[in-house]
Amino acid sequence: MPEQPLIQLQNVNKDYQMGDVTVHALRDLSLDIAPGEFIVLLGPSGSGKTTTLNLIGGLDRVTSGHILVQGEDITAYSNKQLTVHRRTQIGFIFQFFNLIPTLTASENVEFALALVEKDGKRLQQRARALLDMVGLADRADHFPSQLSGGEQQRVAIARALANRPPLMLCDEPTGNLDVETGRRVLQVMRDLNRQEGTTVVLVTHNTAIAPMADRVVRLHSGSIKEITENPAPAPVSDLNW
Ligand SMILES: Nc1ncnc2c1ncn2[C@@H]1O[C@H](COP(=O)(O)OP(=O)(O)O)[C@@H](O)[C@H]1O
Ligand SMILES: [Mg+2]
Repeated sequence: MPEQPLIQLQNVNKDYQMGDVTVHALRDLSLDIAPGEFIVLLGPSGSGKTTTLNLIGGLDRVTSGHILVQGEDITAYSNKQLTVHRRTQIGFIFQFFNLIPTLTASENVEFALALVEKDGKRLQQRARALLDMVGLADRADHFPSQLSGGEQQRVAIARALANRPPLMLCDEPTGNLDVETGRRVLQVMRDLNRQEGTTVVLVTHNTAIAPMADRVVRLHSGSIKEITENPAPAPVSDLNW
């Protein structure tokens, strides 16, 4: 029997009402995402990438269609159920790292961990372990302002990993980084995917990132234009932009 998809988008439409104008952000979008896949969702600005991530992550609601997560229809969820979905299933990474400036790297991670770990000592240990995973054990006591953009983004990844979510949703995670630090961040995502089996959906307008994906989904005007499989994804070190 084929493996059940982790995520199924079924004929998803998303409209935004802007006064008299209806913006069709997504048009009849259908896509299955298998557990353990690394997908790059590629498309120009305005093609519906962020809308797609927000719907999968339960940050917004479809206009019509269905989104199944491990076979469960989250479009039928109450707001409370969606909150649980976000907290237990999803790690979000954004273009702007959204760290809390008055907390150190470790405290930023502990803050997210506090939802699942109540014991203070274990909390600190787990935060250190997560920072270690993203190669930042020696920066644990630095404040965001004392970290480079790439380091801040890796703290944001450590924070998103706090609950060990099966799915990471990354919206232009390298959009604010130079090539070298961007590569470092992509390598962390790739390692996480390969070593821990975390499913990754990474949104970008940057075609240079596409070769690292298992599958590239091209969006245009809210529809899927093309899906390409990469049987041998490129190593992150080969990417150049
Ligand atoms: N909150 C909103 N209100 C109105 N229109 C929106 C909103 N969010 C997105 N849109 C529109 O929906 C379309 C898709 O947007 P988005 O998903 O953000 O694209 P992308 O992330 O690919 O740049 C665009 O035309 C955008 O202007
Ligand atoms: Mg966007």
